[in-house]
Amino acid sequence: MELLRPADVGALLAALRSGAVPLGGGAGLMSAAFADAWGRITADLGGLGLDRAVDGRVGAMVPLSRMAASCAGRPAIAQAVAATGHPGVRRLITVGGVLGARSPRADLPVALAASGATVSVLDAADGTVRELSPLDLWTLPGPFAVLSVDLGPAAPGVYRRFTGHQTIAPSLVSVAAVRRPDGGITVCVGAGLPRPRLVEPDRLPGPDELLDDGEASAGYRHRIMRLLVAEACEALTTGPAGLPSGPQRAAAPLGDGPTCAGPRADGPTCAAPGTDVVVDGTARPVPDGSRPTDSLAWWLRDHGHRAVKVGCEEGTCGACTVSLNGEPVPSCLVPVARLRAGDRVDTAATLADRPAGRAVIGALAEAAAVQCGFCTPGVLVSCGSWMDRHGGLPADEDDIRDLLAGHLCRCGGLAAAAHVLRGVCPADTETDADAAAIPDADADADTDTATGADDRREVTA
Ligand code: FES
Ligand code: FES
Repeated sequence: MELLRPADVGALLAALRSGAVPLGGGAGLMSAAFADAWGRITADLGGLGLDRAVDGRVGAMVPLSRMAASCAGRPAIAQAVAATGHPGVRRLITVGGVLGARSPRADLPVALAASGATVSVLDAADGTVRELSPLDLWTLPGPFAVLSVDLGPAAPGVYRRFTGHQTIAPSLVSVAAVRRPDGGITVCVGAGLPRPRLVEPDRLPGPDELLDDGEASAGYRHRIMRLLVAEACEALTTGPAGLPSGPQRAAAPLGDGPTCAGPRADGPTCAAPGTDVVVDGTARPVPDGSRPTDSLAWWLRDHGHRAVKVGCEEGTCGACTVSLNGEPVPSCLVPVARLRAGDRVDTAATLADRPAGRAVIGALAEAAAVQCGFCTPGVLVSCGSWMDRHGGLPADEDDIRDLLAGHLCRCGGLAAAAHVLRGVCPADTETDADAAAIPDADADADTDTATGADDRREVTA
């Protein structure tokens, strides 16, 4: 794996023509779900200044968590952003990465297409930058890089998806409907097709055009699609303009700070001078980037930060969650090559020592809401980071569930944890005597990875 860092669009074009795969936030590079990026030359877009969002135009390197702030008046897009992955993943994956992956099951392209959004694309075939519909990306024959997205005009709209079960799993069917200025409704359907498609509400793709696989039959998808389209159009016709309504909750506040794992933002939280990364208060030299597919999770563990647990290694379980410049992210999806001087990484070991962490641990312990404890460090990081920003955890149990959406508990679920964590704040911190009883989150046994400490997947591509 060779990691290129083009400094301008001309260098990016040369990189694309040499076969490089554009690298957005990096999550796709780390996940086995996007295996075609492995073993290839990769062009890191972090130095191209594509990390800004201005007046409805969003740079390709803006993570979805920051993009949410640009979606005012565009509820279909906002709901599609909120439906993508869990909060920790949305802090990593970028707008350009999602579009460039051309995944038929991605949420965002469906909502963008229905909204009349356009994508600015560098097409390596002819070297031009063109404005295209998001759906045109599927027909580009050669290499390309997404540079930015114009979100289109503000308009009432809805996004609906169906996964078949209550998880963050990709959709079986998705639908976006947006009301046009002439009063008509533009509908885009996705997930159940090889690629998203604009449709007339009364002329939907038939079962013969829909995917028929182990997850759902084409007939089942067809029935779901009809229901979702009818429900979306009815909501736009009879509901309050600019809803969100229906089964999807509004996007929880996600924080708008730069993540540094993807775009190299210019914000002060990222760009501290120096040559070191600070991990749990200890300065460590910035990794040299020679192994771009090494994950931050394993780099941390290799450096003795054993409070970081490794479970799924694809951004699903949340066990590896750390705070990166104040934002909780799944460290298994952070390429260690994206760390920059001045970045600050805090694991559960640090957070457990702070009042916020003590309050979380105290609440969980008091209610016996922990079994094996494998998921607990990640939960601690997410809750502690939230408290650092908001002063205390949400009082509403549904909001706590949203906060914990990126965490899976293999023992028995996090329902008890969500219940006892309502409204917890650092003021609930225990006495010094209690504090002394808090277990050392860093002092784990080497039984603490789901796969065992010795069967680390070596990445040599
Ligand atoms: Fe990183 Fe599961 S989310 S190991
Ligand atoms: Fe065992 Fe959550 S307590 S994984």
